[in-house]
Amino acid sequence: MRRTRLGLVGALAAVLVAAGLAAGPAAQAHERQPTLAGLAERHGRYFGSATDNPELTDSAYTKILGSEFDMITPGNGMKWYATEPEQGVFDWTAGDQIVDLARRHHQRVRAHTLVWHSQLPDWLTGKEWTAAELRAVLKKHITTEVRHYRGKVYSWDVVNEAFNEDGSYRETIWYKTLGPGYIADALRWAHKADPHARLYLNDYNIEAVGPKSDAYHRLAADLKARGVPLDGIGLQTHLALQYGYPATLEDNLRRFSRLGLDTALTEVDVRMQLPVTDAKLAEQAAWYRDLTTACLAVHRCVGVTIWDYTDKYSWIPDFFPGEGAALPWDERLDPKPAYSALLDALRQRAVT
Ligand code: XIL
Repeated sequence: MRRTRLGLVGALAAVLVAAGLAAGPAAQAHERQPTLAGLAERHGRYFGSATDNPELTDSAYTKILGSEFDMITPGNGMKWYATEPEQGVFDWTAGDQIVDLARRHHQRVRAHTLVWHSQLPDWLTGKEWTAAELRAVLKKHITTEVRHYRGKVYSWDVVNEAFNEDGSYRETIWYKTLGPGYIADALRWAHKADPHARLYLNDYNIEAVGPKSDAYHRLAADLKARGVPLDGIGLQTHLALQYGYPATLEDNLRRFSRLGLDTALTEVDVRMQLPVTDAKLAEQAAWYRDLTTACLAVHRCVGVTIWDYTDKYSWIPDFFPGEGAALPWDERLDPKPAYSALLDALRQRAVT
């Protein structure tokens, strides 16, 4: 039977009422133009993007950055080379610019990162330090930076990329000079400097259950047992179509929840070998949908952050030659199939 025009409008209205969307003009406007953040908030989650200072002069770019997301990560501006370019001389210019922009857009900030082996200033890497000296350098850096951003950031990636693929400790300047205890020390110093910031360990290739995520599970259990202030594990989630989807992601998130920890997908991108094809874009979209659904399914998975939102500013082509197109918006800032897939995933009912 053919529906009358009136019948169709009536049916639509009933659907809207049932979905609780006919509440008022604000809700209706919100539904007409759903955003990733708006939909994530219905699940008590956030949806974030990284950004970087040089891009902030691109007004078409900042418009989407300011409207589509409710959490921001500085891609570089809070790293050691940027914040303490000379020993004891601190520079907050880059980080502050991003924190101020986020505040103007009512967005929170996932701060990134305090202790890492990469993007360190030359004064730090170009010298042999005794353990006592290096410990003092690390304590001062953490304490000064976390104090500066106290009350202004939601969380800190305190230690980044501490483990090798086989689950052994990465032989960084920190590990080699200070031993594994640098991780607990860093967490304690950060907690003292900002007791309200959520403190994370963050790494890549820990999305699936395996030796590297097992190492984090063991370390996290040990830190919790010893009362060290650890709040969450960040799974960077830099995925690549050619390596396959991490099918155990949801189970992995759950086992960290069972330790009483938050989890977050902190640097998501899904790269592919170029050239781009419709088939690859469709597969990429399915991965974005699935990883978002996995986070929504696990109560303590607090949110998803993509490592910038547009292929125009993705780090992938520079670091993985021949690969790219990793983000949900293309280089012209047009949404790709992955963007609709994210909206679809976020429109689902929350499982927990
Ligand atoms: C990347 C930035 O996006 C690049 O601009 C920079 O040149 C190198 O670092 N894992 C991390 C991030 O934790 O800090 C990295 O960010 C990407 C991999």
